[in-house]
Amino acid sequence: SEGASGERAASGAQASEKMAGHGEVLVSTASAPTNIAVVKYWGKRDTKLNLPINSSLSVTLHQEDLQTITSVAIGKDFEGGDRVWLNGKEETDLASNKRMQGVFSAIRERAGDVVDEASGEVLVPSAELKTYKIHVVSRNSFPTAAGLASSASGYACLVKALSQVFRVKEAHEGELTEIARAGSGSASRSLYGGYVKWEMGTRDDGVDSRAYQVKPEEHWPNMHALICVVSDHKKTTSSTGGMIDSVRTSELLKFRAENVVPARMKAMEEAIAAKDFPAFAELTMRDSNQFHATCLDTYPPIAYMTDTSHNVSRLVHAINNESSSGPICAYTFDAGPNAVIFLEEDHVEKVLKALLADFGPDSAESSEPFVRGQTTLPAADCME
Ligand code: ADP
Ligand code: DP6
Ligand code: CO
Repeated sequence: SEGASGERAASGAQASEKMAGHGEVLVSTASAPTNIAVVKYWGKRDTKLNLPINSSLSVTLHQEDLQTITSVAIGKDFEGGDRVWLNGKEETDLASNKRMQGVFSAIRERAGDVVDEASGEVLVPSAELKTYKIHVVSRNSFPTAAGLASSASGYACLVKALSQVFRVKEAHEGELTEIARAGSGSASRSLYGGYVKWEMGTRDDGVDSRAYQVKPEEHWPNMHALICVVSDHKKTTSSTGGMIDSVRTSELLKFRAENVVPARMKAMEEAIAAKDFPAFAELTMRDSNQFHATCLDTYPPIAYMTDTSHNVSRLVHAINNESSSGPICAYTFDAGPNAVIFLEEDHVEKVLKALLADFGPDSAESSEPFVRGQTTLPAADCME
């Protein structure tokens, strides 16, 4: 569709809207990608609004089998009020899902008028549109809650689809990223492609805690990411729960947020701007390691990486040790055992071969599916 949602539709979401009779039912569909942080968000200063204790920076993974697709229908006379189906199953305790409710009300507050594009006639005024009931159907093309950032693509996609159907226009740049952030912190960074930073902000109301694109993906066209699925099981400690425990008990986390991340954010932005792969690689690996160290410093400790994850990390360092020109590949692990390996195109074949030799289907460690994807940013194949 064009008009209110035209801009966002052009930037990735596909909107389709239909007026039934007198505008009783409006529908819209969007897709959104996941992202992998290279400077990690871990810890909140406000758990209601998802305001973080440090800024973070991520790379958006535009790949068909790492995305969410969400359709929203809104109507005057829907029975049963607001309802959500996630991966084919209805969410039964929607009323107590504060994040989802927060997103719904933030969108309703900003609803615009539904206007007939040809005549300019107001078909549904915003005051009435706000009262429409919401039905959401969402599906992730990859495992949910397994450390592959389903909450990021999930909430980014929900915000896209809802903002289209409720005719929400951003009053300032990044306003939609604030709404997505209140759903899941990492979702704030999935509304843009390429290299994206989320500024922690200082305000209590979160208005300055927004995401911005640092560079588009075309900036670094030969950058690739390999998604190595060590396990696609649901993790036992959710990101939300894990970081609450870390904030409460880890001294290292406080040190990291105050004394490490600010300089690292700056260095990372510079490495990306200069397309300096060795600098990007070292910063990425050090940040992943420090994040997992804060998890182990949490009491009781949280262990997201498995033996296989550590073996992947060892292999990456062994490959890099052989290089005379600095690191050629870099791992990063989110809140789960799965590795994302960044590397430039020239090295994909060599590194992929080494990974498959140690962890592929014929290797000794092949109890789980491995190397799910060789992805370029924006697109790529996936294999198990
Ligand atoms: P992950 O590593 O997958 O991001 P999290 O523990 O951060 O794991 O978040 C998982 C939670 O995110 C799910 O339990 C669900 O509440 C929410 N979520 C996942 N996918 C979607 C989606 N498509 N739409 C809305 N919420 C989603
Ligand atoms: C390790 O965004 O999933 O992936 O805000 O509670 O939903 P909530 O947490 P979430 O945490 C992501 C943590 C991380 C690092 C990152 O993505 O920056
Ligand atoms: Co998440």
